[in-house]
Amino acid sequence: MKDLQTLLFGKKDILGLDIGSKHIKVVQLKERKGVYRLERLGISTLQPELIVDGSILDSAQVVAAIKELISNSDIKAKDVALSVSGHSSVIIKRVSLPQMTENELEDQIRFEAEQYIPFDIEDVSLDFQILGPAEEENMMDVLIVAVKKDKINEYVMVAKEAGLNPVIVDVDAFALENMYELNYEGREGKNVALVNIGASMININILKDGISVFTRDSSVGGHLLTEALQKEFTISYANAEKLKQQEPVEGVSPDDSISVLNSAFEDIITEIARSFDYFRDTTNYENIDDIILSGGVALTKHFAKSLSERVGINVNIVEPFKNIEVPETFDKEYLEKMSPIVSVAVGLAMRRVGDK
Ligand SMILES: Nc1ncnc2c1ncn2[C@@H]1O[C@H](COP(=O)(O)OP(=O)(O)OP(=O)(O)O)[C@@H](O)[C@H]1O
Ligand SMILES: [Mg+2]
Repeated sequence: MKDLQTLLFGKKDILGLDIGSKHIKVVQLKERKGVYRLERLGISTLQPELIVDGSILDSAQVVAAIKELISNSDIKAKDVALSVSGHSSVIIKRVSLPQMTENELEDQIRFEAEQYIPFDIEDVSLDFQILGPAEEENMMDVLIVAVKKDKINEYVMVAKEAGLNPVIVDVDAFALENMYELNYEGREGKNVALVNIGASMININILKDGISVFTRDSSVGGHLLTEALQKEFTISYANAEKLKQQEPVEGVSPDDSISVLNSAFEDIITEIARSFDYFRDTTNYENIDDIILSGGVALTKHFAKSLSERVGINVNIVEPFKNIEVPETFDKEYLEKMSPIVSVAVGLAMRRVGDK
């Protein structure tokens, strides 16, 4: 039976909670007849090394940070949508299978997935989406998603310990896609690469006519830039982070850091270019028309320009609130500045139980 809240007010709000290695972000949206309004937003910064390679090494501190963030953001809702990512725990495969109904596939998904998933099938949670008829007769295209159960448990546990109720576990790349669908029109006839670069992870989701045709996560990110600055100028992690944000530290000016950053950009850009090459190789050399860049690295000065020049594709910094009503009570300037960082959380906050 539906609970009273649902009966009276429609579907309950779900918090989007994006637990990254550098920032924890929380977003709450109110939806009415397809129109979204921003209700709550919060970002908190984690100490380094609490989450490494997507593994939560110090759950007590992460739990404490989530609790504090929820309380500081004046959030009462408890239900959350979380996300996980990383090639060692998430596998997304687009495959062709014989035509069958959703129910039939539900029964067979474990068997079908076994051939495509490089993990023990017992160790993963499986999900799928039928995309439509395949080119071959009597076949259909299906997206299979497998996520390691212990990774899900790890993230679900910290949310629970922080007093929240995880109701959805999504994948970063799909959360980005949700955010994109809400904010960007004119998706037909275009290949768009959603590229999210955090502190230690790159998530890429390439959409053709608005439908995901390629996803890839790589374990590099903005942390490489911080490390390069630390090494070059023999400064602390905290000071390197400041320098990245254009603050002079210990006699080093942001201008001095440009050449160091530029060569460190190269490692990140090479990784992206490699994914794009792979996409082209597997799709008869299709072009990518636009990049929508999100994640904290989008804020690093000169990065977007370097990326664009190197891969020869137009780069747009993401606008996750383009089609979301933002009440006057929010600090517009802050929101605009931080918006690339909360893109995944916005996509998660759009999820509702039973929506897919
Ligand atoms: N204003 C800024 N200028 C430059 N760099 C910034 C700025 N703000 C954040 N960054 C960088 O962005 C990165 C963090 O981005 P983000 O919050 O998207 O990562 P995350 O989601 O916590 O990490 P991940 O998902 O990779 O584990 C860090 O490397 C940080 O130094
Ligand atoms: Mg992230």
